[in-house]
Parts: sequence; structure tokens; C-alpha cells
Amino acid sequence: MFAWPILLAGLIFLIYQFGAKGDNSAGAKIYKSHCANCHGDSGEGLRSLYPPLAGADYLKDHEADLACIIRNGVDVDLIINGKTYNQPMPGNQLLSDQEIAILIDHIRNSWGNDYGNVPFSKVKNALDLCAPTSKSGK
Ligand code: HEC
Repeated sequence: MFAWPILLAGLIFLIYQFGAKGDNSAGAKIYKSHCANCHGDSGEGLRSLYPPLAGADYLKDHEADLACIIRNGVDVDLIINGKTYNQPMPGNQLLSDQEIAILIDHIRNSWGNDYGNVPFSKVKNALDLCAPTSKSGK
């Protein structure tokens, strides 16, 4: 059968992908310790409380907002995949600019997401802009 070699190649590719990602990257580690409690080990979210990251249109379309959400948290209505979420997300003041950049690349490119990386310079700019308004806050 003509389709078999293709299926087999696909399967090997998938195993390789999951194997390669199974996942000791720095991003995966930061995610596990700071985010997975709410957003789930596979970015699946939790019912109407915590929005998903896997397949989340927000994650794809709001590239510029991600760094500040991760650092300062967020407490406004957010619409993710057509559903409104309104629980507050706490900030992560202890994560460095680099860690936040690594994390953004991780969540935009895991669990089937293929949204591309965000250059560090953009993450850094966003973080500078959303720094606490009072300089004393730093
Ligand atoms: C205590 C639970 C909790 C933790 C921990 C948490 N989040 Fe969230 N997150 C939320 C909630 C709730 C929202 C929705 C906030 C709103 O509607 O204002 C959210 C929204 C988001 C969004 C935007 C919506 C989406 O689904 O794309 C992103 C991106 C995100 N979180 C990433 C992260 C990352 C990365 C971490 C780890 C540093 C993290 N979150 C840790 C609860 C959490």
C-alpha cells in the first residue's frame, strides 16, 4: 500500500517531536514551577477558571501583552477562544526578563501551538513599558 510509508514516516516524526520535547528545556521547567498549577501540564487550562494556553488565540494574537501579563498578572475580562475569563492571574515578579522571554517562546510553541518566537528585544521593551509606574516599585 502506497500510504503506509507515509504514515510510518509521520509516526516516527511525531514520536521524535514528543521525545525531543519531553521536555527538559528551560522553558518547560519554568512553566512547570510557575504556571502549570493553573494552566495545566499540557496548557489545557481548568474549566471556566483558568484559560487554556494550548490552542489559545489570545496567546497567538496578543504577542505584545504577554510579557506584562506574566510579570504583573492580570485582572480584567479576557476573551480566549470566544470564552470570557475573569479570575485574576497573579504576577511573577521573581522571574527575570530572560526567563519571561524563554517562557513566552515555550508556551507559544508547545502542545501543538506553532506561534513562533518573540525576539528578546521586544519582550524587554514591553517589560520596560509595563514596569510599575512609580520607579520606587523596582
Ligand atoms: C493562580 C493561577 C494562575 C497561575 C499560577 C498562572 N496563571 Fe495565567 N492566567 C490565569 C487566569 C485566571 C487568567 C485569566 C485572567 C483574566 O481573565 O484576567 C490567566 C491568563 C493568562 C494568559 C492570557 C490568556 C491565555 O490563555 O492565553 C496567559 C498567556 C497566561 N495566563 C500565561 C501564564 C504563564 C506563562 C504563567 C506562569 C508564569 C501563568 N499564566 C500562571 C491564572 C493563572
